[in-house]
Amino acid sequence: MTGRICGTGSALPHFRVTNDDLSKIMDTSDEWIRSRTGIETRYLATEETTTSLAVEASRKALENAGVDAAELDVIIAATVTPDKLFPTLSCELQSELGAVNATAFDISAGCSGFLFALNTVQAYIESGCCRKALILGAEVLSKIMDWGDRSTCVLFGDGAGAAVICADETGILKCVQRSDGAKGMALHCYNRPVNNPYKKNPADLDYTHMNGQEVYKFAVRTVPKTISEILAAVDVTPDEVSYFILHQANIRIIESVAKRLHQPMEKFPLNLTECGNISAASVPTLLDKVNRRGLLKKGDKIVLAGFGAGLTWGAAVLTW
Ligand code: UT7
Repeated sequence: MTGRICGTGSALPHFRVTNDDLSKIMDTSDEWIRSRTGIETRYLATEETTTSLAVEASRKALENAGVDAAELDVIIAATVTPDKLFPTLSCELQSELGAVNATAFDISAGCSGFLFALNTVQAYIESGCCRKALILGAEVLSKIMDWGDRSTCVLFGDGAGAAVICADETGILKCVQRSDGAKGMALHCYNRPVNNPYKKNPADLDYTHMNGQEVYKFAVRTVPKTISEILAAVDVTPDEVSYFILHQANIRIIESVAKRLHQPMEKFPLNLTECGNISAASVPTLLDKVNRRGLLKKGDKIVLAGFGAGLTWGAAVLTW
């Protein structure tokens, strides 16, 4: 048995912010953001929360799969911006959905979170202890941005994407998850500091810090190599792949991966133009977009790949 993606869903906040909108509140420009990243707009939460976006995306994925929440054995939410430290987003989601038979837990793996969740569910399915699972990436990154730091805040957006995974004869052919904690400070955000009667610290909250060029170099080196490795492991050539659904951080990274794999950009769908970088939500929201447009045909080979904080990265090749 393997895991098969049998339904997808996504949710975005209603409030859309253009590059020109940002240029009115900080020293930036549409020209800089567009030419350096490909991003044109992003959606930011005003009324929405990480949980409300996750619930909406998950309901749509269950509906798309024709699966009842009570059939789920496992729920895994990938997020770095849960509304609460505890209970977890996945437990809140279990309650909201009425997934009474599921065990639920969160994964924190930055922008690779959805791939880590997929890999984990695949292991559960292969071991025989799960038949139906819900995995998702949900983020309200705008709450951990330093809105005085133009080098990070213009890049990110908010949203959620989900997928239902069912045990089946065909589906995931191979997936991997990897990490290199030694490079963790390239992209980090501190939690609240130690603060107790014996050790006082200012209660200031930290925000996202990124060494963009270091993460960029890591991505263009690691992503094509990992994709090539998993494809070779299952004897599939890049030419046989219909779509490469990559984490949406920067169009230049995606162009570089396409070039290294000798594949046309038409095989690399985008949503960064509209949504910016939504971390763990970027791969599943894009997958949902491609799925709902009817672009995925039964039997198509699809590659998913994520990379980001940790540093972490992961990839999967599957038959649709
Ligand atoms: O999802 C997690 C994974 N994250 C990523 O994959 C991000 C990877 N990195 C990147 O995508 C790129 O490195 C960035 C888009 C973050 C930055 O692009 P860059 O070409 O590496 O620009 P830079 O950081 O070298 O900055 C170039 C210039 C600087 O000015 P000076 O020092 O040359 O005068 C920055 O101060 O651009 C300036 N700059 C801006 N200017 C206008 C930085 N941010 C902005 C901005 N608007 N928003």
